[in-house]
Amino acid sequence: MTSNTAVTRYNSISIALHWAVAILIIGLIILGWYMAGLPRDEFRSTLYNLHKSFGAIVLGLILLRIIWRLRSVLPSQEVGHLQQVLIEFAHFGLYLLMFAVPFIALVAGSFNRGYTFFQWHWEPLFAKDPDLAHFFMDWHGWLAYALTALVAGHILAALHHQFVVKDNIFRRIWFS
Ligand code: HEM
Ligand code: HEM
Repeated sequence: MTSNTAVTRYNSISIALHWAVAILIIGLIILGWYMAGLPRDEFRSTLYNLHKSFGAIVLGLILLRIIWRLRSVLPSQEVGHLQQVLIEFAHFGLYLLMFAVPFIALVAGSFNRGYTFFQWHWEPLFAKDPDLAHFFMDWHGWLAYALTALVAGHILAALHHQFVVKDNIFRRIWFS
């Protein structure tokens, strides 16, 4: 991964991955909170199934995105050193949580019910241990909160750039 002053925007695959993952993650956060409060019935099971299946798709897309990012030439930031460090820190945090949130849920499944992907189901990898599964699921929820907070800050920063600073930042990651 390098950055280049001649490159002024993200490449089209990075842009497509950014928006596909953004829509899926925002949907999964809303779905996750909504479904967890429902009474145990068939509707709730359907939503759980969708949440787990799309969550697994996000994990796949994130792995692709990380590999693609490491191979891409990134647009350079026209900001001061401190701001550059903060941006890199925030983006690193987003990548880390986008990976950790679905991954930890799959780890929890490895000690409990196994894995679900739409109509397919696989048995757990390890011996059942409900306490350990519970522990990982708690972390799934907490890290999802942290991801939500970081995404909210990220969106506010993007809006600030677009409407207050009025620079070119949003266009770098938008389809043109
Ligand atoms: C779940 C939602 C989202 C996540 C997880 C997310 C994550 C990220 C990440 C990790 C990057 C850095 C890309 C890289 O350098 O590889 C990025 C860039 C960017 N995102 Fe998002 N994003 C989300 C939603 C949004 C939304 C809704 C907006 C606009 C309102 C937005 C605006 C931007 C902009 C403008 C950049 C480019 C920043 C730059 O050029 O330095 N993002 N996003
Ligand atoms: C980026 C992907 C994901 C996001 C953003 C996400 C987000 C969330 C959120 C916000 C909740 C509600 C937490 C709470 O109310 O405490 C939740 C619950 C849940 N998630 Fe995810 N999730 C993702 C991926 C996955 C995956 C891959 C699985 C399983 C394979 C999964 C399984 C679950 C389950 C079973 C619950 C319900 C926990 C309960 O009943 O309390 N999630 N998720």
